[in-house]
Amino acid sequence: MLNWDDPLAPPAPRMPAPSLESSGGGTEPVKMPTGQDIDKVQGVIARASGMQRPAIDPVAAKPINADDKRVVNGLADINQLAPFKYPWAWEYFLNANKNHWTPLDINMSQDVHDYHHKLTLEERHVYENVLSYLTTSDILAMRNIGLAVMEKMTAPELQIYQARQVFEEAVHTWAYQHCIETIGLDQGEIYNRYRVVPEINHKIEMCNQRLASVLRANIDLNDRDELENFLMAYIFFAAVFEGTWFYNGFSPIFALQRRSLMKGTGEQLQYIMRDEVLHASFGIRVCKQIVLEENVKLDPKIIQHMWEEAEAAEAQYAHFLLPEPILGYSAEDHIGQFRFIANRRATNLHHETPFPGAKIALPWLDEQANLKKEKNFFETRVTEYQTGGALNWD
Ligand SMILES: [Fe+2]
Ligand SMILES: [Fe+2]
Repeated sequence: MLNWDDPLAPPAPRMPAPSLESSGGGTEPVKMPTGQDIDKVQGVIARASGMQRPAIDPVAAKPINADDKRVVNGLADINQLAPFKYPWAWEYFLNANKNHWTPLDINMSQDVHDYHHKLTLEERHVYENVLSYLTTSDILAMRNIGLAVMEKMTAPELQIYQARQVFEEAVHTWAYQHCIETIGLDQGEIYNRYRVVPEINHKIEMCNQRLASVLRANIDLNDRDELENFLMAYIFFAAVFEGTWFYNGFSPIFALQRRSLMKGTGEQLQYIMRDEVLHASFGIRVCKQIVLEENVKLDPKIIQHMWEEAEAAEAQYAHFLLPEPILGYSAEDHIGQFRFIANRRATNLHHETPFPGAKIALPWLDEQANLKKEKNFFETRVTEYQTGGALNWD
């Protein structure tokens, strides 16, 4: 039985149930109260307290109109889920709940052996710094959606998916922590790396600046400058940060996984990637809806500049991660794939492609990252993946 004073304490022994005979109880079924019963009770309460039932304005009590909902700056009551204006947002929520997992579901024992006995020094450098970058990034992702974005949405179906996203970002952080702890890495050193490695720090600072610009209590999105800044920050987090940096960020580990190294970590990242694909896709869809509803015209030069800055930061990071190639993966592969995916995201946003002519650099990535294909290779999984459908990685 749960201890309500200390829920983490061992369960208290159950008390024997009182016997019906000794309590004088019979075996008659429990009678549920009717509407009349409830009215009667409320009448008694009102008479006893001398209070009238609160009055309801019949006009205000009418169900809301879906057309009145807006992504931001809406005035419809946000506490009423249906009628939906954005049924696709509810579909994202239902789909997200099919990818239910925890890091403990995945067996990491082979990774411990691989890290200490099979990885080269260069491969360890890649592995550690990927984890170091990702763990800090996922905390930023959680804070962005949970603290800066959700509160500005004015339709509950959008907020509900984002609430799920906040939870998923926390699980991702747990996954990296589980890897770091299981492998036995120096936690203080790994978690501090984003402060002392300039190439990681630069990417994190770019996120911090965007987040700081929208994490203020006094933002009025009816102000066009504020609205455009919020939209640019959302596009940055959805399309650049989650849609390319994260998406690309897993691929060095998938390159190890392809060679049957660090397979447990690879599987953790497959689960995370599945979430992240939905996060990026949802965010891009919300951004497009804001553009439509608020009639925003962003300057293409500013968007191009955002992509070029992101590319420069990614290139510095890639050269730090891979000063020399490891077997099956190089800094050039990493940067090339960034450009290719960036074009995909820009196309989804109906923007010009920032890197015309960029070719796919890692043709194996989508297949390697597909959890459905890989799960048969992991015989030690303790829970079954719940989704049967294939994912569209776009
Ligand atoms: Fe995440
Ligand atoms: Fe995410």
